Amino acid sequence: MFSLFNPLQTGALKLPNRILMAPLTRCRADADHNPTPLMAEYYAQRASAGLIIAEATMVMEGNSSFWMEPGIYSEAQAQGWKAVTDAVHAKGGQIVLQLWHGGRACHPLLNGGIQPVAPSAIPITGDEVHTPEGKKPYVTPRELRDDEIPGIVAGFKKAAENAKAAGFDGVEVHGANGYLLDEFLRDGANKRTGPYGGSIENRARLMLEVLDAVISVWGADRVGLRISPLNSYNSMIDSDPVAVTTYIAEQVNARGLAYLHVMRSDFSQAQQGDVMTPARAAFKGVLVGNMGYTADEADKAIASGQLDAVAFGVPFLANPDLPARIAAKAELNAPDAARFYSPGPKGYTDYPALSAA
Ligand code: PHB
Repeated sequence: MFSLFNPLQTGALKLPNRILMAPLTRCRADADHNPTPLMAEYYAQRASAGLIIAEATMVMEGNSSFWMEPGIYSEAQAQGWKAVTDAVHAKGGQIVLQLWHGGRACHPLLNGGIQPVAPSAIPITGDEVHTPEGKKPYVTPRELRDDEIPGIVAGFKKAAENAKAAGFDGVEVHGANGYLLDEFLRDGANKRTGPYGGSIENRARLMLEVLDAVISVWGADRVGLRISPLNSYNSMIDSDPVAVTTYIAEQVNARGLAYLHVMRSDFSQAQQGDVMTPARAAFKGVLVGNMGYTADEADKAIASGQLDAVAFGVPFLANPDLPARIAAKAELNAPDAARFYSPGPKGYTDYPALSAA
């Protein structure tokens, strides 16, 4: 019987424990989307994670969805990330980068006036995006033409190459939360006809083309994929989340990926359901669960074989030494939500470790 503290072979990576750090957007890069020394300090503080999955990172210029999120499309960005990976490795940690295209969540005010792209011309509603001019409604995206899709795949591939040069241990493809690849996957956002719309096979095509391009750079055993079949964040919905989960799990099996990372529920709880049982039934490799697990629940899920590892988001943000705290059954620091996305070290690198608390 395994627990959170048993090592785990994940593709080519040997993880010392199964307490992973989930990717967390923190907006501490600079205005040119270059990672900063502060980010190196933050990630190095969290090096005791079984694996750090670094935050969503722009694969192509002109696709910013947040202010000050990092990129990996330029030489300067790759150099900034190299300082991050060096700092994590110096503390004995391992870190993969989450490769991301924001799709319709991007905003012209963040991108020199450029209209965002998406599978279909359907905007995100009921929420607003932070821009240099304050909060603004999302705009209606432009429908990508089929002949533009190879350019998107090439963007992910170049970003994967840059991530390798930056010293990461692998990459995770961001297929979740209503960003470009997820927009293609789920039928609420994808009303296309042709090779990238309609059937699940067609809607998953872009995600799988991206995976294959990234695998050609890294090898499948250093590539993970994250999906969120139930999350309604960013106006997302699908008519059959279980079918989507099963199809992706089968496709990932065929490719021998390092891991599949599944967000089990919905940020707002609007959509209910169980995608973890079908994910476990279909997927033969390392299954990582995420979203609201307590340490106890995570341990039980691993002991029962339901999951192989759990990614913790908010608890890791507020507790740089989360594995030690879980091991000691110590109290956790409370997260400061007002500083999740604010600039500077406050609420970022100033959460105390146990020894300092
Ligand atoms: C994501 O990148 O998936 C993401 C980022 C920020 C959020 C939620 C999701 O608040």
